[in-house]
Amino acid sequence: MSPIFTPVTSVAPNITKVILAITGGIAAYKSAILARLLIKSGFEVRVIMTAGAQQFITPLTLQALTGNEVHTELLDTKAEAGMGHIELAKWADLIVIAPASANTLARLAMGMADDLLTTVCLATAAPVMVAPAMNQQMWAHPAVQLNVQTLSDMGYEIIEPDSGVQACGDVGSGRLPEPDILLRQVINFKARLTVAQCLTGKKVTITAGPTVEAIDPVRFLSNHSTGKMGFALARACRDAGAEVTLIAGGKVSLMTPLEVKRIDVLSANDMLQAATRSVEAGCDIFIATAAVADYRTRDAAPQKIKKTQDEMTLDLVKNPDILATISHSYPDMFVVGFAAETQDVEKYARGKLESKNLDMIACNDVSRKDIGFASDENAMLVFFANQYQKPPVELEKMSKANIAEHLVNLIGSVLN
Ligand code: PMT
Repeated sequence: MSPIFTPVTSVAPNITKVILAITGGIAAYKSAILARLLIKSGFEVRVIMTAGAQQFITPLTLQALTGNEVHTELLDTKAEAGMGHIELAKWADLIVIAPASANTLARLAMGMADDLLTTVCLATAAPVMVAPAMNQQMWAHPAVQLNVQTLSDMGYEIIEPDSGVQACGDVGSGRLPEPDILLRQVINFKARLTVAQCLTGKKVTITAGPTVEAIDPVRFLSNHSTGKMGFALARACRDAGAEVTLIAGGKVSLMTPLEVKRIDVLSANDMLQAATRSVEAGCDIFIATAAVADYRTRDAAPQKIKKTQDEMTLDLVKNPDILATISHSYPDMFVVGFAAETQDVEKYARGKLESKNLDMIACNDVSRKDIGFASDENAMLVFFANQYQKPPVELEKMSKANIAEHLVNLIGSVLN
């Protein structure tokens, strides 16, 4: 009899599309760096600039950094023919206004709609983060404080300004926080909105990417894994409140997620060593997304092998099974495996669930070209150990970020 799957297609809204709105203030230069950091962290960024902002920094800078045309006008026939203000408002998952001038705060608090930014803020269903920045005397003014309070009451997320020496020479509160701090605030806010804090206080170790098994100093055996799935899981676990160690195999070239401890390794043996050390140091959940090479050469040649023969045979030996070794050594730890299959996905996945002593296994059909290895998207079948009496779950095709959030929520639901 075929299993009854619980199909899942979407979680709490994933936040990937961000409008960065820049208003007039000297701190506008920091927004260019923020745009870059947001993109590096995986967000798609579109920029709105008010007339004031363009006095401090040019739209061309932001266009070059984001690869998207910058939006400046409310009533511009060319812009409306492309992405008009309503479409822009609907496109955004999140709006970040940084810096937000005193004038913008006042107009937002009044509900005005006399330029593109204020109109988009009225027309959007997306959450809005506001990072006020201005002279300390202005920031302290009751009118500004009242406007900030009003915006906060309306549900706007206020990012408190920093204090210190200001561009005008004054000292006090009102400085725009540094771009990396703003990015952190955006990520924390996203985490609060999208992933339940189901892993708070948990320590998680994740393996990701391929392993690389040397043949000689210049050649190796490996596979198509990029690490995208494992890195997405690291982000989702972090967002769910976990302390994450990410062991990246092979030559993963992805940016390390903020606040995640990354350990780079090459071979399966290196990965096993790093994983064992990480688990010994304290670990509640072990997740193996890595595509570990099943075999390595018996002895890697110390020098480059010359092509003197027409044929050559590589003598291969089996690599250790990292996942099985860890799960059998730590029977009380919650262990999640992945399975990359090209046929009989369910049969093989259930076999690995049992033989590798797992609590949960997520399998993808890697014969599909649109998901799995290297793709930004995936689709999975998730099975649980019998003791949990939980029916399998089908995660239909969606971004790896979304899949990761589902998997974290499933881990949370079983653990808690
Ligand atoms: O990295 P991406 O490009 O984003 O691609 C993601 C992915 C396709 C690699 C990922 O979704 C995935 O399927 N990972 C598991 C790949 C795999 O090696 O599957 P497997 O069925 O061969 O192994 C089963 C499990 O045992 C896996 O959890 C694997 O990490 C683990 N294993 C396997 C062999 C071994 N020697 N040691 C292990 O720990």
